Amino acid sequence: MRKPLVAGNWKMFKLRAEAISLVKGIQDGLKGIDTGKVEVLVCPPYPWLEAVGSALRGSPILLGAQNAHEAKEGAFTGEVAVPMLKDAGCSYVIIGHSERRQHFGERGDRLHRKVRAVLEYGLKVIYCIGETLEEREAGRTEAVLERQIDEVLATDVDAARLVVAYEPVWAIGTGRTATTDQAQQAHVFIRGKLGGIFGLQVAQGLRIQYGGSVKPANAAGLLGQKDIDGALVGGACLAAGDFLAIIAAAVATAGGA
Ligand code: PGA
Repeated sequence: MRKPLVAGNWKMFKLRAEAISLVKGIQDGLKGIDTGKVEVLVCPPYPWLEAVGSALRGSPILLGAQNAHEAKEGAFTGEVAVPMLKDAGCSYVIIGHSERRQHFGERGDRLHRKVRAVLEYGLKVIYCIGETLEEREAGRTEAVLERQIDEVLATDVDAARLVVAYEPVWAIGTGRTATTDQAQQAHVFIRGKLGGIFGLQVAQGLRIQYGGSVKPANAAGLLGQKDIDGALVGGACLAAGDFLAIIAAAVATAGGA
């Protein structure tokens, strides 16, 4: 059975004291939730990784980063390497988020290298894929997802440390969510593609998160879908109460997979 992964992508939000207070709020609220049924991850901005990591010590919440450079180290001003993130206590790195693709020009080849770097230096990866509104309206959703998978994922990727996040770009930060049917349909397609690469049995065990305006109000519907194995949450992860409600929805629907 796939254990859902609920991850908070804080993006470029929160100053230090706010970051600590958010994570303490999540920790407190988690005491009333059965955390054996869900994996919870927070991905704060780089400068707060250490502080949030220490605040989390002893709790089941995992720490992750929002991006990483593909080199082990080097003269790359302004960048952060995977071994540094590991040293700072991260267990996951998000790669290929649509904001990285859109604003920072990250594409197939670069993302291919980044995913391998994350795995090579010992962390787990959340690889994000998703179509734009224009692509969906042109009936190209599956072709886009297929390309984004084929460009980056192959048999040399350790599937045991891979999570895929389906994030339709038109649903990110817009308040517009994919319907449960649209999301489930995309997840089935993605799982089928992953089956073609890793084999059906491995694909059955791979977690595919949904992301894009996940909120307490729609979380149960989305997470209750058979092929949706957790959520990658942006806006709603910035308030402890909302994030906790999404985690609770994941726990309540876990076991349906
Ligand atoms: P959102 O962001 O929940 O604010 O739509 C999701 C994401 O970008 O991962």
